Amino acid sequence: MSEILRRGRLSSTPDEDILNFTSSMSADKWIFEADILVDLAHTVMLKEQSIIREQDCSKILKGLLQIREDGIGSLDHSYEDIHISLESRLIDMVGEDVGGRMHSGRSRNDEVVTCIRIRLRDELLSLMEELSQLRKNLLDMASENKDTLMPGFTHLQHAQPTTFAHHLLAHSGALSRDTQRLMEAFSRVNECPLGAAAFASTGFLLDRERTRSLLGFERLIENSMDAVSSRDFMIESASILVNIMVNLSKMAEEIVIWSTTEFGFIELHDSYSSTSSIMPQKKNPDTAELIRGKSGTVIGSLMALISICKALPLSYNRDLQEATPNLWRAVETTRGAARVMAGIFATLEVNTDAMSLQSTAGFTTATELADTMVRAAGIPFRTAHQIVGVLARENRDPTPEDIDAAARNVLGENLSERGLSREMVKEALDPLSNISKRSITGGPSPNELERAIRSCFEELELE
Ligand code: ARG
Repeated sequence: MSEILRRGRLSSTPDEDILNFTSSMSADKWIFEADILVDLAHTVMLKEQSIIREQDCSKILKGLLQIREDGIGSLDHSYEDIHISLESRLIDMVGEDVGGRMHSGRSRNDEVVTCIRIRLRDELLSLMEELSQLRKNLLDMASENKDTLMPGFTHLQHAQPTTFAHHLLAHSGALSRDTQRLMEAFSRVNECPLGAAAFASTGFLLDRERTRSLLGFERLIENSMDAVSSRDFMIESASILVNIMVNLSKMAEEIVIWSTTEFGFIELHDSYSSTSSIMPQKKNPDTAELIRGKSGTVIGSLMALISICKALPLSYNRDLQEATPNLWRAVETTRGAARVMAGIFATLEVNTDAMSLQSTAGFTTATELADTMVRAAGIPFRTAHQIVGVLARENRDPTPEDIDAAARNVLGENLSERGLSREMVKEALDPLSNISKRSITGGPSPNELERAIRSCFEELELE
């Protein structure tokens, strides 16, 4: 390796161990393309500012384009990072008298953080696409399951009847907020640190506005110390990724539970399942389990990122290099998880009979029965809650006679005499009528679901 950095100040080269310890080359594969872009923009600006000559500029640009074409594989990986490896290769190609001018007014400190922001922008956009595909698949499945009854759960205990569409819309609502968060974070990632140099800017009269606009950034990070040392944009993005993974892990957990023999609500497509090496009958929901597991990986990445950045003094510190791979690991894992989850829902088989059958198990209509007593017999809700609670203690499928007995017990009178008819009781115990009564905004009634699904599709189209 030619020592373009170390040949001045330092007299010895690091051995392989030290080099491996200090090198960021393996994570820098993420920013190879971005680094070429940054080099191109900086070189063009240097020429426009008459800091380098036109003929040198064109040789540098040609060299950079050649390196881009040759790919990262053409670079010497025994350097401590991609920036210096790339610059070395350029100098080998066009000579130091030309290539050695590219780094004027720049440091790897502003260079690396500009590269990270460029790559992260792309990653956030791709993730938004994956999420919108997943939301679309959830909405498609919801459209087909507006009338599919299922038990809704609290504490994982049967609570009230709902529909599968209502349940799916809950997940799509959470993912829509995640997308909004990504958009907001994108705007803060999209700020240009280039021109900050090591931290104190530079005496070369750079045009920071020009490189900002060439690289498509929305605005500058003005203060040059802030520009090289801040990694808040990485922490913010990784936190959003964590939130996405927490949401996906909740969906994954349900998929695992719903595909058990005990539930039997769904069946995963074979391509998203695995089998056992010993038990020939097994069909395991490994993809969902791995999404659940990988949420831990992304949480860990955020923790590493935060811990590394904590308490660093201004401005650049090499610790920051250690933070970056955690971001890429979080990005890659989350994107993969979102894509696999989209595929799971695109191919999922829903056992509507099992869901419907379970929708009333465990007296899920008890709340509607109590509500009906309030509306028909004019008793306070708390009293109705007690009457139905007494009923539920022994009887999970009460007849009007059972109800009268419980009311006499609590109130000292029959509710049938206060206006609660047999017809009303029957209706209260019917899961479909439970659903259709819950017609206020956000409820599971088929009409309301129809409206909500339409509005979610419209939101998706506008994004
Ligand atoms: N590989 C380094 C990083 O990721 C690039 C910046 C190096 N700067 C320095 N002063 N050593 O942070």
